[in-house]
Amino acid sequence: MKEIHSYWAYIVLAILIFTVVNAIIGLSKKKQFTDKDLRLGLFTLIVSHIQLLIGVALYIYEGRYANIAETMKVSEARLLALEHPLVMIIAIVLITIGWSKHKKKAEAAAKFKTFAIFYGAALFLVLSRIPWSNWF
Ligand code: HEM
Repeated sequence: MKEIHSYWAYIVLAILIFTVVNAIIGLSKKKQFTDKDLRLGLFTLIVSHIQLLIGVALYIYEGRYANIAETMKVSEARLLALEHPLVMIIAIVLITIGWSKHKKKAEAAAKFKTFAIFYGAALFLVLSRIPWSNWF
């Protein structure tokens, strides 16, 4: 389970970066919003939701919430028991909001802008709370 979560994180990170960069390029070059852009946004949504499910299962399986008072005193344990799950869930909520908001926009620029803002903010949060020292 931990390994799946660890490897799946590469896919999440790669596709999220790709979608944000694609949205910024689309916005700045005033491109058309094509099927490819739509699928990229949808793929990111799906991949991140799968990571959420794996993460929740891992969290429960490992019992990270146990002995919470002691856990909070150690920054590394706190990262995995609280900060990482919480911030990742917020990031995935932002991706979900961005996805549903972009659908309501009619113009290409507005769609790209919505992706750039919401997926971009999610990317920022993900990068801030990945346990880098455990991962590599
Ligand atoms: C975009 C979403 C997420 C990404 C990119 C992500 C990424 C990662 C990465 C890279 C690690 C380190 C893996 C390793 O040590 O090799 C990790 C660990 C962990 N993640 Fe996530 N995660 C996400 C969401 C979540 C969520 C939503 C939860 C729980 C609700 C969660 C729970 C955990 C736990 C408990 C660990 C510690 C595993 C261990 O070292 O024993 N993750 N995550």
